[in-house]
Amino acid sequence: MIFPDPMIHRTTEYPIEELFLKRWSPRAMSAESISHKDLMSLFEAARWAPSTYNEQEWRFLYATRDSEDWHLFLELLVESNRVWCEKAAALVVVLSHKIFAANGKPNPVHTFDVGAAFQNLSLQGTAMGLVVHGMAGFARDQARERLAIPEDYAVEAMIAIGQPGDPLTLPDKLLKREKPSSRKPLNQIVCAGKFRFGED
Ligand SMILES: Cc1cc2nc3c(=O)[nH]c(=O)nc-3n(C[C@H](O)[C@H](O)[C@H](O)COP(=O)(O)O)c2cc1C
Repeated sequence: MIFPDPMIHRTTEYPIEELFLKRWSPRAMSAESISHKDLMSLFEAARWAPSTYNEQEWRFLYATRDSEDWHLFLELLVESNRVWCEKAAALVVVLSHKIFAANGKPNPVHTFDVGAAFQNLSLQGTAMGLVVHGMAGFARDQARERLAIPEDYAVEAMIAIGQPGDPLTLPDKLLKREKPSSRKPLNQIVCAGKFRFGED
């Protein structure tokens, strides 16, 4: 089966760069490895995200499928994610530093900044023809404990990275969902002036 083409499934109301539409979150991966160089290119892209005061709160812990830590990272995932992540090339745990390094005060936008870094990483992955899939379904407490993550870091999300695979290798339930999704219309997410969503 052919890997779905997001450009067929997605339309925009206004013109944008194709890369935004080409990025999506497939689950079908081939179980092939990716090179250290390619993996580092993804983190390099994340590194160049904007952040408050250039704080660069993001931290990434990773395990490649041929490494000692692979099973530890895989075990953190909920079963519904583990089933397709077994064919990933790398799994990543994304952290953010919750306090400003300079003065120890709480940073109100640590999560916002790390989201930008994730998007950089996923767009770079798309440009390189890789699967990049963000995940909230994993055991955060276990990740903290087993990966020795200090309390001043938030455990944000996990990411599966891999080579695209044949969607037909997915269980039926996931195969049905293996296509690029659509989006809410712009008028449901953008409003000039005061909050007036939900009014007709
Ligand atoms: C922070 C975050 C958490 C997510 N958690 C999961 C998850 O646990 N399992 C999963 O299969 N997909 C997960 N997704 C993927 C989303 O469902 C997906 O991004 C969304 O449906 C939009 O589809 P698209 O990325 O293909 O455009 C997550 C995405 C993000 C950004």
